[in-house]
Amino acid sequence: MSEHLVNELRETLAAARSQFEYLRDLGVESLGTCPPAENKVSQGPAHAAAQESLDDIHLDLGDCQRCGLAESRTRLVYGVGNPNARLVLVGEAPGREEDLRGEPFVGEAGRLLDRILAAMGMQRKDVYICNVLKCRPPNNRDPLPEEVATCEAFLVRQIAAIRPQVVVGLGRFAVHSLLKTRIPISQLRGEWQNYHGIPLMPTYHPAYLLRNPEGKRDVWEDMKSVLRLMNAEVEG
Ligand code: URA
Ligand code: URA
Repeated sequence: MSEHLVNELRETLAAARSQFEYLRDLGVESLGTCPPAENKVSQGPAHAAAQESLDDIHLDLGDCQRCGLAESRTRLVYGVGNPNARLVLVGEAPGREEDLRGEPFVGEAGRLLDRILAAMGMQRKDVYICNVLKCRPPNNRDPLPEEVATCEAFLVRQIAAIRPQVVVGLGRFAVHSLLKTRIPISQLRGEWQNYHGIPLMPTYHPAYLLRNPEGKRDVWEDMKSVLRLMNAEVEG
């Protein structure tokens, strides 16, 4: 076997092992069946005509200069994934790597998020991932209320365009911004909430899990609730 092939095999095995270790940490015994990723609900021509698309909203956002973050950002991070996703995940704001790449959750926390999705039987292309803020706050400081207020309308429109079955709020900041509450994330997580008529599951942020791996079990419980709801709607 060529050295190249051996190296490739070694990398594949290492990736599989890391996924397995993650699942074991979560206490996963068997992988559930994953519901189809796409929203099959027919939207009909009349509906399509009335509703703006993710691309329309992106165009409207343009080279956004609506708040001070425009000055310090490298790239605006709109969101990625499936425009017909049944599951939307919302984080806080781009970090350093996201700001450079223009894509959400591509750093270390993002790699953990990919593994959580894999444990759910999904990939990034199946879901839609975005943030409360589209631009990185300098030095990752907390977003300011006026920044959230300015940016939020675009997120609301994105979610309205996708019409997912479920929204997952990742971490304290995203959940507090989405739900307009100050209830601690430790109390909110695991309990279904209502976001503009869509069930929202609050859970811990993957960056928090990197520092507090014991939280992974709770996150897995929350993701199992998400899968149950998605499967119930497919079967029911
Ligand atoms: N943390 C977030 O909340 N969002 C990202 O896109 C990356 C890290
Ligand atoms: N604190 C946070 O800021 N986020 C979490 O997800 C958990 C605790």
